[in-house]
Amino acid sequence: PLVKDLFGLTELEERIRSHYGLKQVVIVPGDSDVSPHTKKELGRAGAAVLRKLVTEDEVIAVTGGSTLAEVAYHLTATTPLKGCWFVPARGGLGESVELEANTIASTMAKKTGASYRLLHVPYYLGEEAYQSLMQDQSIAEIIQFIRKARMVVHGIGEAMVMARRRKVDPETTESLRRDGALAEAFGYYFDRQGNILQKMPTVGLRIEDIHEMDMVIGIAGGKSKGEAITSVLRHGHENVLVTDEAAAQEIVQRL
Ligand code: G3H
Repeated sequence: PLVKDLFGLTELEERIRSHYGLKQVVIVPGDSDVSPHTKKELGRAGAAVLRKLVTEDEVIAVTGGSTLAEVAYHLTATTPLKGCWFVPARGGLGESVELEANTIASTMAKKTGASYRLLHVPYYLGEEAYQSLMQDQSIAEIIQFIRKARMVVHGIGEAMVMARRRKVDPETTESLRRDGALAEAFGYYFDRQGNILQKMPTVGLRIEDIHEMDMVIGIAGGKSKGEAITSVLRHGHENVLVTDEAAAQEIVQRL
C-alpha cells in the first residue's frame, strides 16, 4: 500500500472505479509493454483477486492469452479451490497451445486442486461447421456446463493484434477495421464506444451469458492496451479491473 500511495495509484484506482461503477480496480506499478516484471505483478494481482472473490464449488470461466497465463502461474495450492471447476470461456484452438483457454483452465485447476473441463473447438467457425458442432451431444453438454459459470476471468487485447494472432480471415479483418474495432475480449470485438461489432458464431459463452454473470474480471495492462481496455469498460459489464499504471494513465485520460 505504501508503494502504491507513493505513485498515486490508490487515487487512480478510485477514479477509474467510480467512473465505471466497478466493484474493484487494482493497479500495479509500471508498464507491461516494456517490463516483464510488471506483467508478472499483473498476474500476481489477478491471482489474488480471483482467490478473494471465488466462492465454494463454482464454475470459473477463463479466457486465453499471455496475461491469463501469468495469472495461472501465480495461483498456488494454498488456494483452496477444491470444489471448483475451471473451464474455457469459449473454444480457442488456433492460438499457440500455451495461450489457449483450455491450457489456462487446466493449469489453474492443477495448481489449485480444482477440476477442469475442456472444449476442443476453434475460435472461429463458419456457419455450417458451427451448426453441425452444436448437434454434437458431448459439445452441447460441455457448453451447458460452461454456462453455469458465475465468474469469468478474461484478458483484453487490441483488436488488430488479436485478429492477426487468431488468424481471422482478411475480409473479416478488413471489415472490423472499417467498423473501428479497437478491442477484443472473450472473442468479441468492440468499437470506441464499447459496442460489439460482429457476432461471430460462438462456441461457449455468449455475450448474454457474460452480461448475466455476477463477476466479470478483466485483467490487462500495458500502455498500448489503454484504449482497448477503455472500450471494454464502456461496454459496461465489467465488475473488476486489474491493470497496470501505464494502461491506467491512458484510461483516465479518456474518462
Ligand atoms: O482477449 C485478449 C487476449 O486474451 C489478450 O492476450 O494477454 O496475450 O495480450 P494477451
